Amino acid sequence: MSKLQTEALHADFGASVRGVDLSSSIDDATKDEIRELIDTYSFLCFPEQSLDDDALLKFTQFLGEPEAEHVTLGRTGEIQYFGTVGNVSDDGTKKGNAHPDTHYQTGNQLWHADSSFRELPCSLTITHAHEVPGEGGATEFVSARAAYERLPEEERAKLDQLKVIHDYVFSRSQVAPVDPAHAASLPPVAHRLVKENPRNGRKNYYVGSHSRSIVGLGGIESRSLIDELMAATTRPEAIYSHQWAAGDTVIWDNRCLLHRGTPYDADRWRRRMRQTRVAGSESGSTPH
Ligand code: OGA
Ligand code: MN
Repeated sequence: MSKLQTEALHADFGASVRGVDLSSSIDDATKDEIRELIDTYSFLCFPEQSLDDDALLKFTQFLGEPEAEHVTLGRTGEIQYFGTVGNVSDDGTKKGNAHPDTHYQTGNQLWHADSSFRELPCSLTITHAHEVPGEGGATEFVSARAAYERLPEEERAKLDQLKVIHDYVFSRSQVAPVDPAHAASLPPVAHRLVKENPRNGRKNYYVGSHSRSIVGLGGIESRSLIDELMAATTRPEAIYSHQWAAGDTVIWDNRCLLHRGTPYDADRWRRRMRQTRVAGSESGSTPH
């Protein structure tokens, strides 16, 4: 019998999971169950965990190959597996609203899938919350799988044939200039518009703030298809808003979910979350 207790968070996706200490060694049956839950629910929150960076990396490695964080990789070529979400520096000091890093992170307030602009986008993001604001700073999620499954059959068949270009410089330069070495490391890529989960065959489309255009469609047609798909995915009732609590360890599946940050007062609050990602393993994307 399973030791995990699972509670659904939204009608479309998401579950809260208790009954496992992620910093301990996890038995094989539980590992299989967690993998299965990820493919079923797309978003898992494990509350009241205690994960330092070493334990977070170990947990990440059980889920797959850690992905090198793209900002440091692009700017300096250095491989680093951790990202920090929020406004606290490594030395523990708080960065306020006026700090450039705080401004840069507002790019994450547009609906996106992490690293969709890479040739091989990551599959999962794992985030552990250490310090959270008393107000604001929730992260919102929606399921492009549920949205795809709501489309009429003939619309789905049309989408199945298409490819979409994702472009980091296109999306991020709207927020702040992108470092030239970083920009050069991330040329636009074309992905199939419709993805399929390799384990359960469920499909979804793959658009977000980084998607620039649809291959083969004219400018206006291309933009309006992307906008239509985005609007269908992000309808207010489709949103699950995750209000972080310190100790939450959250896994989300970027292959089929979109997420966005929401504002908080960085002058007033500290927000510190450590994050890793699992590299993707699907082929089918091509440099463009
Ligand atoms: C992320 C992300 C937005 C936020 O963690 O990948 O986009 O600020 N976060 O919650
Ligand atoms: Mn993100």
